[in-house]
Amino acid sequence: MRHTKVKDLLNSTTTLQEVNAKGWVRTFRNNQFIALNDGSTINNIQCVVDFENTPEETLKRITTGAAVSVIGTLVESKGAGQKYEIQVNKLEILGDSDAEKFPMQPKKHSLEFLRENAHLRVRTNAFGAIMRVRSVLSYAVHSYFQQKGFVYVNTPIITGADAEGAGEMFQVTSLPLDNLPKNEEGNIDFKEDFFGKHTNLTVSGQLEGETFAMALGQIYTFGPTFRAENSNTSRHLAEFWMIEPEVAFNDLDDNMDLAEDFIQYVIKYALDNCGDDLKFLEGRLLEEEKSKPQADRSEMPLLEKLNFVLENNFKRVSYTEAIDILRDSTPNKKKKFSYLINEWGADLQSEHERYLVEKHFKCPVILYDYPANIKAFYMRLNDNTEPGRETVRAMDILFPGIGEIVGGSEREERYDVLVQKMEALGIDKEELYWYLDTRRFGSATHAGFGLGFERLVLFVTGMTNIRDVIPFPRTPGSAEF
Ligand code: 4AD
Ligand code: MG
Repeated sequence: MRHTKVKDLLNSTTTLQEVNAKGWVRTFRNNQFIALNDGSTINNIQCVVDFENTPEETLKRITTGAAVSVIGTLVESKGAGQKYEIQVNKLEILGDSDAEKFPMQPKKHSLEFLRENAHLRVRTNAFGAIMRVRSVLSYAVHSYFQQKGFVYVNTPIITGADAEGAGEMFQVTSLPLDNLPKNEEGNIDFKEDFFGKHTNLTVSGQLEGETFAMALGQIYTFGPTFRAENSNTSRHLAEFWMIEPEVAFNDLDDNMDLAEDFIQYVIKYALDNCGDDLKFLEGRLLEEEKSKPQADRSEMPLLEKLNFVLENNFKRVSYTEAIDILRDSTPNKKKKFSYLINEWGADLQSEHERYLVEKHFKCPVILYDYPANIKAFYMRLNDNTEPGRETVRAMDILFPGIGEIVGGSEREERYDVLVQKMEALGIDKEELYWYLDTRRFGSATHAGFGLGFERLVLFVTGMTNIRDVIPFPRTPGSAEF
């Protein structure tokens, strides 16, 4: 007999049929009621064991975490909380779980403890829900772009290009670290290395993505990216997944429209397809916030917050307007910001971003037209900017509780302007000849952005630490599993 997923059993339209369910015991009450979960849904199916006719030896082995197979009759449940249950006729223990040793006890565990047990935390309600939502969101990403005719591009993970300027990089080498070959100048001779040159893990697929956009029109990447920044925050990972669309003939306004439409689509998709999990996560968040002071609690319950993002346009604000708002803000005047905003040109820290979204606008914000010298070399220089106050066609999307979720721009399509910028910043033109070729042959206006997938998952699940929305987080000092 083939087993049926718990999700399908709970959605069943007929009862009194013989069914087989397989899963892991969440709890076993009164020597009679098994709450069985198989990961197909947050909901457990109750399996009622005929304890009088089951050997004591078997009953003892029904412990939290044990894998079991039950065969029985699907009946309407008399108990509260579930529609159906299984009246067990035959029970088989597939894999024992020593109750004394299994770390995931049916009680509240701290998120820190669960992180240390990332291989088992997925057996809890919260992490099961988070990982299902993550999976559905990644499907939604592909579904959005594929429906719109974007081509999915797999940009390289190992690359020699080190000019993105997005962050520090992990080096890739097969040289013996205890006996590095040296050249005549006494430096490491990367000619001897696997690729015959110095290479690293990619920090972004954008530059390669642009070359494809200049042939295929609309492309997107969705893959792992790596940053060796030593930022031990609740928003940074050393290994994270990024989605980077790039579109020929799009300008910055088109880019903002695309980003907003895309984000609203994937959130709507999660709301439509992850109802039970999101409802559970909403409850989890309310519970977690009970112990926090009122001021630190979310303004809206999770589902309301997600619907709010769907129903309201993102507020588009120029960097210059944002600086004026921040300069006149109470935390700036009362010197509550760690970095005070005194003048135009200041880089925005996350405290400023969060003030703008959470306190001032109270909705997602798209900041655009940043000072040229705090942004990457490839961003398009605005026409008619004052000397000394040059701005670029950059945009960052800021989300409540998250801060920056998207970074992007219209790209500098003018060969001469781009070369000038690279020279001024000391970026190697020979190394990036292939990037410059896009501007030498059939250059055109184009734009794109990068969305940090884990930051999206954070927002949708209402979790607060990015380590809790990726299966096995990589952060400074931690690469377990
Ligand atoms: O703003 P970033 O650095 O932009 C780029 O890499 C561009 N090449 C994107 C493009 O225009 N195609 O990164 C984009 C997004 C950020 O807004 C953030 O959401 C996420 O990637 N991100 C991180 N997420 C987790 N951990 C980190 N260390 C991250 N660094 C960036
Ligand atoms: Mg950025």
